[in-house]
Amino acid sequence: MVTIVLVEDPHDAQRQLFDDWAGVFAADGRHTFGPDHSAHSADELREMTRSTSQHRIAWAGVDQSGTVVGAAGLVMPRHDNLAQAVVTVVVHPDHRRRGIGTALLEQAEASALEHRRTVLLTETQWRVGARDESGEDFAARHGYAAAQTVLRSSLSLPADRARLDAAVEGHDADGYVVRTCWDGIPESWLAGRAELSRRMSTDIPMGDLVLEEERWDEERVRTDYQRIAAIGRRVVDAYAQHEATGQLVGYTQVQVPQADPQVAFQQDTLVMREHRGHRLGLRMKAAGTLALMEGSPDTTSVRTWNADDNAAMLAVNRDLGFVHDGMMREWQKVVTL
Ligand SMILES: CC(C)(COP(=O)(O)OP(=O)(O)OC[C@H]1O[C@@H](n2cnc3c(N)ncnc32)[C@H](O)[C@@H]1OP(=O)(O)O)[C@@H](O)C(=O)NCCC(=O)NCCS
Repeated sequence: MVTIVLVEDPHDAQRQLFDDWAGVFAADGRHTFGPDHSAHSADELREMTRSTSQHRIAWAGVDQSGTVVGAAGLVMPRHDNLAQAVVTVVVHPDHRRRGIGTALLEQAEASALEHRRTVLLTETQWRVGARDESGEDFAARHGYAAAQTVLRSSLSLPADRARLDAAVEGHDADGYVVRTCWDGIPESWLAGRAELSRRMSTDIPMGDLVLEEERWDEERVRTDYQRIAAIGRRVVDAYAQHEATGQLVGYTQVQVPQADPQVAFQQDTLVMREHRGHRLGLRMKAAGTLALMEGSPDTTSVRTWNADDNAAMLAVNRDLGFVHDGMMREWQKVVTL
């Protein structure tokens, strides 16, 4: 029998339990993608529980011997999308098909409803060319509908410098400049970045996902950079600026976990709709990659996720040398209270 334990104190009394909880995610990642798989570390996840922009809850499924065999999480945004909850359920590969996943999911869903969250999202991952051997049937069985399919791709570093230089150079005369910065941005850019983040929630392909526009201000941007530093990550951004007005019109971000810098994680990339068509996506990503190679020589790959219908972003990634190496699907269940 498995007992579901609420992990309320990941920093102190339940530190080991939280590490074991995170260990289930790591075991699942290695099971799906092989021994090189890397994702959020236990310490990163622990620090993320302090986030003020999300309410995060964790449950461990513990068997009679005290081993953590399953993990569930709930992430609820606090600034916007107040009906949304991201539900994560993972069962250790050695303990599947015994009802543990269902028990954890029922716990997480009940909690989401208590918090009046009715748009439930979850994701599943699998290898390219394989079938999603567990998550897909589980999600469908529990009433989730496929809402978006996402391709995971990686770029090996150091990448071809000449190719990156060529992507960055030769465009300076068209009225935009691309600048990179590590670990934060000038104060005067905070408002522009807040607007970009808001547009990131409206101007990208959403599939069938029920997502609301996000609310961003300077303080949220500032806090976001502080949170990234607090979880032990460095961050390199490339921004596109419209020279005539000084307006920030695009950005792309890569985060590098300091404890394990080999794999860096690509985050948002956006060019505002009205500024598309100037190869800014390619230029920003190329500039960001050059800065990453310079500032983080231990990083050997960057991993990115893109909607399968995001032709523009996928083409940019192909131009830069990204290789498709994983699949992900977003699932959604909308319930009534
Ligand atoms: C998906 C996952 C959480 C299921 O955990 P589990 O403890 O094995 O799930 P349960 O035993 O409660 O399965 C419930 C039902 O889901 C379906 N299901 C689960 N795994 C399945 C599989 N591999 N193939 C087909 N159906 C499956 C079945 O209908 C199953 O009922 P049954 O065993 O009576 O046929 C687990 O396989 C896992 O951790 N996968 C990787 C992470 C993931 O994809 N999470 C899902 C997010 S929604």
